[in-house]
Amino acid sequence: MASHKLLLLPGDGIGPEVIAEVKRLIDWLNAQGIARFETEQELVGGAAYDASKQSITDATMAKAQAADAVIFGSVGGPKWDGVAYEARPEAGLLRLRKELGLFANLRPAVCYPALADASSLKREAVEGLDIMIVRELTGGVYFGEPKTITDLGNGQKRAIDTQVYDTYEIERIARVAFDLARKRRNKLTSMEKRNVMKSGVLWNEVVTQVHGREYKDVELEHQLADSGGMNLVKWPKQFDVIVTDNLFGDMLSDIAAMLTGSLGMLPSASLGEVDVKTRQRKALYEPVHGSAPDIAGKGLANPIAMVASFGMALRYSFDMGELADKLDAAIAAVLASGLRTADIKSDGDTAVSTTRMGAAILKELQKLHA
Ligand code: IPM
Ligand code: MN
Repeated sequence: MASHKLLLLPGDGIGPEVIAEVKRLIDWLNAQGIARFETEQELVGGAAYDASKQSITDATMAKAQAADAVIFGSVGGPKWDGVAYEARPEAGLLRLRKELGLFANLRPAVCYPALADASSLKREAVEGLDIMIVRELTGGVYFGEPKTITDLGNGQKRAIDTQVYDTYEIERIARVAFDLARKRRNKLTSMEKRNVMKSGVLWNEVVTQVHGREYKDVELEHQLADSGGMNLVKWPKQFDVIVTDNLFGDMLSDIAAMLTGSLGMLPSASLGEVDVKTRQRKALYEPVHGSAPDIAGKGLANPIAMVASFGMALRYSFDMGELADKLDAAIAAVLASGLRTADIKSDGDTAVSTTRMGAAILKELQKLHA
């Protein structure tokens, strides 16, 4: 059996607590001989800053480059508010995305039947929801230059962020989204702001061209990102796959998370280009939620987004789709049994801890695997 190298980067806040629940799964998979994972663990974010005054070291970057997949917890927290911009915790994550070339961020928003009442939307609006947000992750305003604050000398300062997209960046993310749509309900919605932004004009044009050239069989529609956000909370089931830029994708995926009941439910996969020789691609898996410093260390965090992110690793990096399906089914079964962490509980439910939830998911997986 092939062995797979995983780099675990728990990071800050609730990151270490939710990663611990992934380790529980890895240990079991290894012990049963279902898979062979070799894991290494390193610091990232504020934890790395405290140890080395950098949000990620070159040595850790080298390990990330060499790994078959990176499993990432979360970074940031008020403790590092005063840290220089270049060394802030988030810079470690952004460096990983950029240097590993992880341009495609897949954020599936699935509403488990048992959680339809935990959403802030009405049950009928979210029950059975299954959409996929494809966020461009290495371009746009996150990385565009110049990115500066200049002192104008008259008591004023000027801040500049630059939104920039080249044709090839839009083409490759569009292809990822069209390919996913083909395996789902065959519909893609592209979101931009072509009514205000040149990058939106080009985005719209390039997605339309890729569609005409390569994906005529897929239904394509365009929505302005602001009204797309409105439609997400109005009637989210109109969507199948949504493709959008880095910043809009950041915001729209947090919105989509609430449709599923909680930010603690949304996993993600960040993927690079497939290497033509090895057929492999660089990949990082992380929950969409952040470090939640307010609840960190209390055993209150919901590990489902993290565990489901590991499930995406099984699916997208290790060709273990069947096992990933079982893991998703285990999560659904645990939720159906009534187990809830604090973020997804309704009035009258008692909340269970991070470890209880993680252990229950493993137990269900064991049953499904037997
Ligand atoms: C996310 C996060 C990150 C982002 C932060 C932590 C830099 O919010 O993955 O959605 O803005 O991309
Ligand atoms: Mn975000």
